[in-house]
Amino acid sequence: MKILVLPGDGIGVEVTREAVKVLRAVTRGRALELVEAPIGGAGVAAAGDPLPAQTLALARASDAILFGAAGVPGDEALPYEQRPGASLLRLRSHLDLYANYRPIMLFPELIGASSLRPEIVGGTDLLILRELSGDAYFGEPRGVEVRDGRRHGFNTMAYDEAQIARIAHDGFRAARQRRRRLCSVDKANVLEVMQLWRTVVGEIGREYPDVELTHLFVDAAAMHLVRQPTAFDVIVTGNMFGDILSDEAAMLTGSIGMLPSASLNEAGRGLYEPSHGSAPDIAGKDLANPLATILSVAMMLRFSLNQPEAADRIESAVQHVLASGLRTADIWSEGTTKVGTRAMGDAVVAALSGTTTKTITKS
Ligand code: IPM
Ligand code: MG
Repeated sequence: MKILVLPGDGIGVEVTREAVKVLRAVTRGRALELVEAPIGGAGVAAAGDPLPAQTLALARASDAILFGAAGVPGDEALPYEQRPGASLLRLRSHLDLYANYRPIMLFPELIGASSLRPEIVGGTDLLILRELSGDAYFGEPRGVEVRDGRRHGFNTMAYDEAQIARIAHDGFRAARQRRRRLCSVDKANVLEVMQLWRTVVGEIGREYPDVELTHLFVDAAAMHLVRQPTAFDVIVTGNMFGDILSDEAAMLTGSIGMLPSASLNEAGRGLYEPSHGSAPDIAGKDLANPLATILSVAMMLRFSLNQPEAADRIESAVQHVLASGLRTADIWSEGTTKVGTRAMGDAVVAALSGTTTKTITKS
């Protein structure tokens, strides 16, 4: 198996380092070929392009991709093709990684780190399935131009029925693996593109009579997510709404530093990444939470490498480390032990090999 590691920028470098440690430990290097390549600001530094041709070629040739984060301060002022932060979007688009799975799992140990009361958030277990290849992210026309002496900015929110149908099928299939409830989130009361979304999801739903389908407008969905998160099983939604709702849902679990993600194409090839960005403000300070990336490795083992037991082992190791009281700053609370990025990665590796916590190894 060939795995491409794209650390990228900012905390991406630190969190992927820990995730690779965990991947090596869980597979003991068995039949894994790890190749690293630059992307984002690192791509600009190495090859003058945020998505160097060689990185893209390696991405096409690999079985799975582990991605850290891309983006540098001031990014948004640059043209799209030169923008480090857009390298991930270009990669998603080149590989047609259209299905983005963001499982929102609440580790019971972190219930106190959530911004919601334990009785509201307890038992939360939902999956956001975000369409990743269309919507305002990629719709044309787009741009900023001067019209009648005024700057005019515009994007196009667009989906065709095939794009909606394929993500809808994935949503129903995901629901079948879980509690058989699918909530489709749109804005059909205002946007024509979202009327089409609702119609097509409803049509596909007839093929899945065993799955309960509901529809919510995105504003109501945002509200219900914090009102009663346990009411959700699988949420399927477009690119833009999925981006926003997944950050909101991440906070239910205590931190966006806990939220892994998998982006798959029709061939089942996957890119695995934490849902957070490059966080330049804390980069290089050993402060970042590597658990989202480590949990993304678990998703990679499950979805792309056909090693579900190894995935389970990583998730148990993470749970074990949290139960032992170790926390990075983003999930720290009174009475727990604050550790840095490296120490958190080391603790997960130790938990994997059964040499658990300091207290046990010392005795
Ligand atoms: C995400 C991120 C990206 C997105 C950014 C970094 C382009 O926020 O994966 O959620 O908007 O898709
Ligand atoms: Mg986002």
